[in-house]
This record gives sequence, structure tokens and C-alpha cells, in this order.
Amino acid sequence: MRLLFVTSEIFPLIKTGGLADVSGALPAALTSVGLDIQILLPAYRGIMAQCHAPRLLGSLQVFHDIRCDIYQTTLPGTQLPLLLIDYPALYDREGGPYHHPQQGEWQDNPLRFGVLSKVAAMLSVPNTLQSWQPDLVHCNDWQTGLTPYYLRQFSSAAKSVFSIHNLAFQGNFHADWRMRLTLSEQDFQPAGYEFYGHLSFMKAGLYYADALATVSPTYAQEIQTEQFGFGFQGLLQHRAQDLVGILNGIDTQVWDPATDPFLSAHFQVKQLSNKTLVKQALQVELGLQPIGDAPLLGVVSRLTHQKGLDMLIEIVDPLLTAGCQLVVLGSGEPAMEQQYLTLMQQYPGQVAVTIGYNEPLSHRIMAGADIFVMPSRFEPCGLNQMYGLRYGTIPVVANTGGLADSVHGGTMGADGKLPKTMTGLVMADNHPSTLLVTLQQAIQIYANSRQWKQLQTQAMQQDVSWQTSAKHYLSLYKNVMSV
Ligand code: ADP
Ligand code: GLC
Repeated sequence: MRLLFVTSEIFPLIKTGGLADVSGALPAALTSVGLDIQILLPAYRGIMAQCHAPRLLGSLQVFHDIRCDIYQTTLPGTQLPLLLIDYPALYDREGGPYHHPQQGEWQDNPLRFGVLSKVAAMLSVPNTLQSWQPDLVHCNDWQTGLTPYYLRQFSSAAKSVFSIHNLAFQGNFHADWRMRLTLSEQDFQPAGYEFYGHLSFMKAGLYYADALATVSPTYAQEIQTEQFGFGFQGLLQHRAQDLVGILNGIDTQVWDPATDPFLSAHFQVKQLSNKTLVKQALQVELGLQPIGDAPLLGVVSRLTHQKGLDMLIEIVDPLLTAGCQLVVLGSGEPAMEQQYLTLMQQYPGQVAVTIGYNEPLSHRIMAGADIFVMPSRFEPCGLNQMYGLRYGTIPVVANTGGLADSVHGGTMGADGKLPKTMTGLVMADNHPSTLLVTLQQAIQIYANSRQWKQLQTQAMQQDVSWQTSAKHYLSLYKNVMSV
């Protein structure tokens, strides 16, 4: 089966969040279960230079005034074929894939991702570029939402799967964009790509794809409710038979405490003692007091309402007073960034806050912290809690989405023993006071080194690889192809 995997970000080339990690790891796992894959990505600034010998395949007339060159190369570090859309006026810019360096989202995002969506569909009908054409197109998030629509417009034989990584980001734009993007007027309606008077990329994906996937079983249920559906719950209920939740895995080579090149010492289940060296090095690097047995809480995250980290600020004082340390790496809402910086000033040597995006430091925090804090209000899957499991950094998480599916909670039994299945702690509800209580429970276990080691061992032995999930995707693709 030939599969075109369409994405707006991919590790290690361009990353703003978990979608990049998934795009960088899932295709390789799918290859190992027998799929023939090509990946499609816009050539943002600097991407070509990072790839090995890009070869011009040819060009495609995407809109009447936009003709794009398509290059073929491989994803760095792999043999996976990668197609790049080269159109400098849209993609060769300073800034992020979605944002201007200072002024919010790129105003022409509908066009930038309309081109991505349409090129994916054009590659899925007989064309002059290559003989390879996909049987199936796997689209990811709103940036690729128009692909299933264009596939139908072209009467392509290729089927489509649309993956929801985060329903909160919808790609809703002024209705006038529909002419520019050659969408038919008659489909601008509730049974089409219209969403509350807007052209919605997300809606198009959800409405026109042959099958829908999302990144955890619990989130697949949650998005059918008003609380988590962001207005799409009705459509998702209607399409419930076509919707499946498949838990993300992680790249266990990139995230491996035994070999991680960003760490000064390495450890594994059978030799956990070196983890204390990594913790010590992190404390020194960030100016924290080098107290070995101070429970070190870690956060690596976008600092947004979704991630619930405002709750941590609200309740952290008693933990710090009791001797905990806190290390935060993140960026996002300016007010929250400021609150964390203020906290660092209040607790010098005890709280370290780094605002920004820093891949190497994120590895050192995942490895050096004792407890990883992730009290998200909603979390389609979440990857950091799984990095935590892999590095023996015990996740304390909210009971939602992929957090609920990947962290096996528990409490100490009356006999003073921990369940053998327990790999982390899960909040009973998402009140700040519950976060405090749950962190205190984690710290209590931490104080008992034998139990802590048991918990770390169980966490590190949990399977967080892509293996199982890749098989679920394979059966999803087979189902779609057989209809
Ligand atoms: P989301 O995609 O919603 O932000 P995920 O947990 O799925 O959440 O993925 C986030 C990814 O981005 C992880 O790989 C995490 O390590 C990384 N990340 C988030 N913030 C930062 C940061 N400030 N510096 C480095 N990596 C970060
Ligand atoms: C989104 C979600 C996150 C998920 C990631 C990858 O960014 O917010 O929960 O892990 O996509 O699927």
C-alpha cells in the first residue's frame, strides 16, 4: 500500500510541538509494518539546506498564479522519501511555520496551507512528476484539512485519513478565501467546509475525509462532547463510526536515556544510579542548589491555558517551602511567562525558568528531573509524559485524553505497597488543590527510595514505542481501502 503522509512540521527539520515528533517517527514505524511511504512538507526557510541533495522532480500549477517546484530528498537520519514544496514567496521567511516573528499568525496562512493541501491532492492523481501515486493520503491537523476536499474535487481514487492532533486549532478564515483557494461555492454550507460563517480547514478535513483518527482513545471520546468538541462535537458524533483513537508512541531512539547525546551521563533501568549525576548536572547548569534529595519537579511545555500550568503557579508555594525544586522550560502566553519569571526571583537557587525553545535542554530536564508535571485541561495525546516514563521521571498528570491513556496511576495500598501496574500519578479532577495533593503524594513516594525505584522501573519498562500503534494504523488503512 502506498501512503502519502502530509504534514506542516516534522522532526528534526521544523518543530513547534508534538505534531513534529509524530511526523518524524510514525512514518518510519509504518514503513516497518510494510507501507510504501512518501512525506510531503513545505520547504520553509533553511529546510532544503538541511536535506541531502534535493532533486527537482518538476513543477505543479497549484493556482492560476502559483506554480511550485517539488523537490525529492530524504528525511535526515532516515531513508524515508520526503517531498518538499518550494515556493519562496510563501515559505522562505524568517519566523515560525505559522507565525510572524513578532506579529502573530501569517496573514496568508490560508494560502500557504491551501497550497500544501492542494499539492497533496495533485500528487494523488496521475501527474507528470512521478509514477508513484498514493492509494491513501494521511492528513494531519487543519493545515492539511482541504486535502480530502481537493481529492474529491479531482475525483482522485486515493482515499484519505484525517488525523486530529488538536481540535482547538481549527484554521477558520474569512469566507472570501474560498474563491482564492478554488473551493466550490455550493460546498460553502454546513454539509461542507463552512463553519459558523467561516471557511474552516478543520471542518473540511472532518467532513470530507474517508476516515478520521485522533491521537488517543480517550480524546476520541472527549471530542464528541460539548466540553472538548470546540463546536465540532455534532459532526464528530455523526461520524463516530469513522473515528478511531490511536495512542501516539515516541521515537525511542531519539529519546533514550542510555544513549541520549544531550546528556553528560547515561542510565537505564538496570543502572539507574547515573540518573542522579544527570540531575546534579542539571542543577548546576541552571543555578539550582545541588541538593541531591530535593525533589526536582520538571516542566517542558507551551505555556498556554491548555497545559494548565497556571494551576502549578497557584499551588507551588507550599511545595517550594517544603524544599522542592522546580525547573521550567517553555514559552507562550506572556502573562504566564512573566509569572514564572517572578517565581524564579522569589525562590533563587530553587526555581529555574528558561523562556524559549531549547531542544537539548528539554532532554536534560526530561532526564534530570524526578517528577514531570503535566496538569493539562485537555491533552489530545501529549508526548512529554511518555518521555518522562522512558527517563524514569515520574509523570504527574491530569486525567484527560492521552495522559489518561498513557500514565497508569495508582496509590499506595493499605499494606504500604504500590500497585505493580503503576507508572505515574493521575489527578482525580482538575482543581488546583488536587494538583497539590497529587504532587504531595508523588513526593511522599519519592521520600521512600525503594518505592521510588520500583515506580521508576515500572515506568521505564512501559512500552511507549510506536510498534503497537503502527499496527493499529495499518488496520485502519486496510479498513479504509476496503470500503
Ligand atoms: P503539544 O504538541 O500540545 O505542545 P506534546 O506534549 O505533544 O504537546 O509535544 C510537545 C513537544 O514539544 C515535545 O517534544 C516537547 O519536548 C516539545 N517542547 C515543548 N516546549 C518546548 C520548549 N520550550 N523547548 C523544547 N521543546 C519543547
Ligand atoms: C498536539 C496535541 C498533543 C499531541 C500532539 C501530537 O499538539 O496538543 O497532545 O501529543 O499534537 O499528536
